[in-house]
Amino acid sequence: MRRPLSRRLSTAAALVAAAVVTPLAAPVPAAADGVVIGGSPVQVSDSPWAVALASRDRFGGTRAGQFCGGAVVSPTTVLTAAHCLSLEVLGAPLETVEDLHIIAGRNDLRAAGGREVAVRSVWVNEEYDSFTNAGDLAILTLDKPLPKDHVIPMAPVGDRAYEAGTRAQVYGWGDTTGQGDYARSLRAAKVQVLADTACEAAYPGNADGTYLRSVMLCAGEVEGGRDACQGDSGGPLVARGRLIGLVSWGSGCGQAGSPGVYTRISELLARMAPTAAKGS
Ligand code: ARG
Repeated sequence: MRRPLSRRLSTAAALVAAAVVTPLAAPVPAAADGVVIGGSPVQVSDSPWAVALASRDRFGGTRAGQFCGGAVVSPTTVLTAAHCLSLEVLGAPLETVEDLHIIAGRNDLRAAGGREVAVRSVWVNEEYDSFTNAGDLAILTLDKPLPKDHVIPMAPVGDRAYEAGTRAQVYGWGDTTGQGDYARSLRAAKVQVLADTACEAAYPGNADGTYLRSVMLCAGEVEGGRDACQGDSGGPLVARGRLIGLVSWGSGCGQAGSPGVYTRISELLARMAPTAAKGS
């Protein structure tokens, strides 16, 4: 009963509009201790919007096929990074990957528990630029809805959560050392939103990408040490209880002077769902 994936460009705005945009004063999320580089384990029950993107066909069963992260923005909508669905990452054309699914509510990828939900359709941003990494966004529509409490609101345009200096957390099952030590359980790292100038200075246009402040968000620690890494891509960057970014790229992981670069959620809202971006 596997369905082929389809790409539906026209539905992207509707998908995002249907997702939740928060009013400016939302509660702060449950504190988590510390993904990732310099992170520590967290309970997925405290951050149920952090999900794993998986395919056992492509990545084997040891870690349930996890290869990227995602953020739940409506019961049937998960945001992830466009590059996660590239030929380069999947090792096969997306259309041929028949078991693409998300894993929600499971801490340890080797254990059972939580839910595996098939991805019904995929929209990949056709404007994603693999040279600069601009527009690193894909929208997954799930086959069955997740519980409402899995949804995290997206921070609208102008939200204080985007201001430099804001404390944020990034979540994922990715590499914890930069040496290919993939986490078995969900981890989070405390980072802060950095000034765009920090990433513009680090990434004026090099082999890894070009920092573009209109569509990207810079976060990490100036001195390094805490960051997302390989396998965390597409996963959530959360500040003030709202989703502000998706793990996208960086040079190495956690190195001083090379912050993490994230897909900027406000830009996505402004561009795809102008009415939703105003809040209501
Ligand atoms: N591109 C990586 C992935 O596919 C994510 C890299 C994030 N790097 C960083 N230093 N923040 O998983």
